[in-house]
Amino acid sequence: MVRFGKNGSDATSGAVRLARAYTKRDHVAACGYHGWQDWYIGSTTRNLGVPKSTQELTHKFAYNDIDSLNKIFADYKDQVAAVIMEPMNSVEPVNGFLEKTKELSHKNGAVFIFDETITGFRYANGGAQEYFGVIPDLATFGKGLANGYPVSAIAGRADIMRLMEEIFFSFTFGGETLSLAAALATMTKLQKEPVVETIWKQGGKVVDGVNDLIRRHGLKDLLSTGGKPCWSFLLFKDTDVYSQWEIKTLFLQEVFARGILTLGTHNISYSHSDTDIENLLKAYDEIFQIIMNVLSDRNLPEILRAKPLVPLFKVR
Ligand SMILES: Cc1ncc(COP(=O)(O)O)c(C=O)c1O
Repeated sequence: MVRFGKNGSDATSGAVRLARAYTKRDHVAACGYHGWQDWYIGSTTRNLGVPKSTQELTHKFAYNDIDSLNKIFADYKDQVAAVIMEPMNSVEPVNGFLEKTKELSHKNGAVFIFDETITGFRYANGGAQEYFGVIPDLATFGKGLANGYPVSAIAGRADIMRLMEEIFFSFTFGGETLSLAAALATMTKLQKEPVVETIWKQGGKVVDGVNDLIRRHGLKDLLSTGGKPCWSFLLFKDTDVYSQWEIKTLFLQEVFARGILTLGTHNISYSHSDTDIENLLKAYDEIFQIIMNVLSDRNLPEILRAKPLVPLFKVR
């Protein structure tokens, strides 16, 4: 069954409320980013304004670290309503992590939720759950669902979803139909045209190109790529001279100056052409050289036109 919301945060918050209603439990285990609302953001350092009693109900576990989830179940025995996670962001699941997480959640009576707000309609038409062959109890979608129109969705097991009629999940613009029509049009296009295949192919060119530039500029100790070609990451490490945040600030300053909006991720779209990719790689080529120069000249403060980024919380 499916129920529609507007933002990704509506869907993740609705899914968590549903799991709490279904299990009659309060605690939540989370891994990744899930939106702005109290239940999630209270578990990060950006928790100003979130009541302490709410903060104490959400516990973070680390990706690919099944023991960190085990510990939550041990510390809050029979109190965990839901395990919610991004099936993948920058790091590949290893040692059957997704399968094990699902199994552990069920063993402990928790609802297993994939937050597919980004991976949905990107990893595969059926999302990361289809790609990895691990089907959650509930899944949340947003973003690409209607190609930018404001609509999100919670989908999943009917026995859980039926409780939607009992919890409160309703808002003025929930009945807005333009976005639902856009979602239908988007999904029709996804089924008829090689959208997912194309974003993987184009994304592969980006990843290969970026890896090649990292090698050519001798920046392997500082930069790497992560994620999948359809949603890839440029990852920064601390150097002995500058922190990853200082270097990332320089990177952002220079990409923005070249008219490219990225936070270091490549969320490939069906309309990204070979020319777009060439432009991106040309910009990276110039910027990687600037980074190399700054590292050898140690003159970052002179080159930066903004204050370095201050990490608030890092979820990916
Ligand atoms: C994985 C994931 N979940 C949830 C959200 C929240 O979605 P929204 O910003 O539409 O509320 C986001 C947004 O970036 C996201 O990436």
